[in-house]
Amino acid sequence: MNLKGKDFLSLFDFDKETLLYLLDLAEKLKQENRAGHTHRLLENKTLAMIFAKPSLRTRVSFEVGIQQLGGNAVVLKQDEISLGVRETIADTARVLSRYVDGVMIRTFAHDDVVNFAKYATVPVINALTDLSHPCQVMADLLTIKEKFGRFDNLKLAYLGDGNNMANSLLIGCAIMGISISIGCPKNYTPEQEYIEKALEIAQKSGSKILITPDPMLAAKNARIIYSDVWASMGQEAESEARKQVFRPYQVNKNILSIASGDSMVLHCLPAHRGEEITEDIFEKHSPAIFEQAENRLHVQKAIMTSIM
Ligand code: CP
Ligand code: NVA
Repeated sequence: MNLKGKDFLSLFDFDKETLLYLLDLAEKLKQENRAGHTHRLLENKTLAMIFAKPSLRTRVSFEVGIQQLGGNAVVLKQDEISLGVRETIADTARVLSRYVDGVMIRTFAHDDVVNFAKYATVPVINALTDLSHPCQVMADLLTIKEKFGRFDNLKLAYLGDGNNMANSLLIGCAIMGISISIGCPKNYTPEQEYIEKALEIAQKSGSKILITPDPMLAAKNARIIYSDVWASMGQEAESEARKQVFRPYQVNKNILSIASGDSMVLHCLPAHRGEEITEDIFEKHSPAIFEQAENRLHVQKAIMTSIM
């Protein structure tokens, strides 16, 4: 499959066959990495990494990932480059394209990443915006594939804020044929455009989609329970108010008891124990959650080697 030169901005830009190809490649790179094989697939290539928000996993997994492939990274923090302030995004994209072979961006407005990609002549990767987090969902899908060996006849329940994670999970699950229920308060539903896109994709894949304010209904018979913070990066001022609104959506024993008994619990991290997930549930499921975190490295290596 030839994906050279493509951007990785939104999961709905890709079909099931392409996502399966990337997941298979990620699995292969993971196994070979564990067996001590080195890959020089991106020898001397440079990835620029733009961060307007904090990061642990994204920063380290992309930087280590490109190094493992023989390339290198340049990290650009917002206070250094002032993306969209010091000069236009179009000019930043055109300048960086003269120096590097790919650009990864984590920022607030999704449109800024789309605009950047429009002017860049090198591939651009969305490493989280307020709207979506496709690289995380690729890691989630790999973790699900490793556990269940399939994507059909599975239900994932996401509980909490209809945020960037909920939006990307809707699309990722719909493409792969995983049924997905989002349990969220009625004023915190996922982006309408994403719900509509997911429903459209699901018609073909057979995935069932439900958006409900009832956390128990969302969790019922789910094989995978997914949790994310209640206040995303940039929403810190709303943190206290959100604790009240989202309390019924905490992933805890009650939620797990209504799910399918042996459910897998995933969390994109960082986690706030005692808020969106209880300490006991988090610790019990931490092996899967940290495997999920590790899988960021492998899926992003697959994405980078394919598009750069
Ligand atoms: N899950 C995730 O994207 O983590 P970071 O915010 O630490 O990169
Ligand atoms: N919804 C969270 C995801 C963090 C990986 C945020 O945007 O902060």
